[in-house]
Amino acid sequence: MLIVYVFQVVLFIYTDATKQSSKKQRLLIISLDGFRHDYLREHYLPTLNRFRNEGVRATHGMQPTYPTLTYPNHISIATGMYPEEHGIVHNSFYDRLLKLTIGMNNRDDGQWSDPKVEPIWITATKQKIKSAVLFWPACHNEFDGVRPLIYSWLYTDDIPFREKIDNAINYFRELPIQLVMLYHFEPDKQGHTYGPDSPKIYDTLLRLDFDIEYLLNKTKKELNDDLNIIILSDHGMGNVTGVIRPFFEKYLSPKSVETNLLSGALFNVMPKHGLTKKVYNKLINIPNVTVYRRNEIPERFHYSKPKHRLGEITVFPNFEGQILSRTTKKQIYNKKGNHGWDNTLATMQAIFMARGPSFNKNVSIHSLNNVDIYHIACHILKLNPNPHATAGSIVDLTSIFRTIETMTTSSSTFTSISSTITTFTTTMNNANCLYSIYVLIEKNIIIISSYRVLYPTVR
Ligand SMILES: *[C@@H]1O[C@H](CO)[C@@H](O)[C@H](O)[C@H]1NC(C)=O
Ligand SMILES: *[C@@H]1O[C@H](CO)[C@@H](O)[C@H](O)[C@H]1NC(C)=O
Ligand SMILES: *[C@@H]1O[C@H](CO)[C@@H](O)[C@H](O)[C@H]1NC(C)=O
Ligand SMILES: *[C@@H]1O[C@H](CO)[C@@H](O)[C@H](O)[C@H]1NC(C)=O
Ligand SMILES: [Zn+2]
Repeated sequence: MLIVYVFQVVLFIYTDATKQSSKKQRLLIISLDGFRHDYLREHYLPTLNRFRNEGVRATHGMQPTYPTLTYPNHISIATGMYPEEHGIVHNSFYDRLLKLTIGMNNRDDGQWSDPKVEPIWITATKQKIKSAVLFWPACHNEFDGVRPLIYSWLYTDDIPFREKIDNAINYFRELPIQLVMLYHFEPDKQGHTYGPDSPKIYDTLLRLDFDIEYLLNKTKKELNDDLNIIILSDHGMGNVTGVIRPFFEKYLSPKSVETNLLSGALFNVMPKHGLTKKVYNKLINIPNVTVYRRNEIPERFHYSKPKHRLGEITVFPNFEGQILSRTTKKQIYNKKGNHGWDNTLATMQAIFMARGPSFNKNVSIHSLNNVDIYHIACHILKLNPNPHATAGSIVDLTSIFRTIETMTTSSSTFTSISSTITTFTTTMNNANCLYSIYVLIEKNIIIISSYRVLYPTVR
């Protein structure tokens, strides 16, 4: 009799543990472009501060990948790969094989033909986890024939942050979606225009802080706080302290290099056939820069590949300087604030904070790398990570996750209905915006709701 009793107890604990570990977690990742880590220290931001104190915070921020630009870093965050692996080497670059300039707005032009590159929303979709991705770079692209359930079709800055938040909460509430990723273009825009230390930045940060309060209110009211939220950024923002014009200053003849080059916080050129040595010897005369041939670039930058997207020579300014590509002095560029420099600089560090049922409460870590985010998301959503995503890991991040025992206190109103939901979607085009009507049928209950959706394509 005793043996049977013990067996039953063990069985009870076992099934309970299985139930807990199979509980479906949901994750919202918000990227606030150009939110420098130091802003958190320099400004009074009550909601973000509270969010950090309640959950997980990185006291020294999150390290971006090099170059510290928007497109490369959003793809590193999404794929867990360095730019040399995912191939997004700049915000806009020339692909010598496709004979095409690739930027964030390209449609499916063959730029994602490497099957090893897989954003988290594709990993999720392939493993039957539904996702919605709004305005995140590359979310409108097809990977290996796969797209997320909902994604924004066209990029625009015109949608207010709160409207994006409304959409995210509605998706979680009404659809069996477990991953939502939102991109917002501030405070990057203000940082470029006015510089990182302008009072204008503080106005923008305070507005964002208030919008996050709105998000947390909605998460509590509409989702019973049963949502994991990661707030992060792609890179920081620094003062532009100098300008170099290699063509205008006669360090370089435009005739000696191919016309497609990369400029800004770095300068990358492909010398014409046989001219590599000559071009190199000219460029090393520029004061306050370091010039590297492809194979000399320090390993930590992970910036010598791919060969069809990067030229043979890269010039790094030794200060937060801009290298311009025009032959004249007249060129429009970000005169005040910019980014793109060395990813270890304090000014280039991004933010990271996280809260929710999968995260530990009140935990500090020193810092993390943005290529770790892919693995954090896989861990929370119980996905098998892409075996080629080897740049990051969660080995050193175990302290940020809540253990199963403490997770038992959280309840979900979502899990119980998710498996029986049937979704019908109708979309109408109205005044350039798409409206969606979702009909959710669960046993005999029918929920009909409609709201403006941000240029989505729903499949
Ligand atoms: C959040 O909720 C609190 C308490 O209900 C309220 O005072 C505050 O105004 C709300 N904030 C926003 C931004 O909606
Ligand atoms: C940027 O420049 C401003 C004004 O010159 C200065 O106060 C500030 O400390 C600088 N910021 C950084 C991050 O260097
Ligand atoms: C550039 O280098 C010169 C010496 O070559 C030095 O005097 C100057 O301070 C440097 N400027 C910057 C911005 O680092
Ligand atoms: C967070 O943890 C620190 C110690 O690590 C403690 O001093 C502090 O009171 C905690 N805060 C809350 C709100 O629990
Ligand atoms: Zn950016």
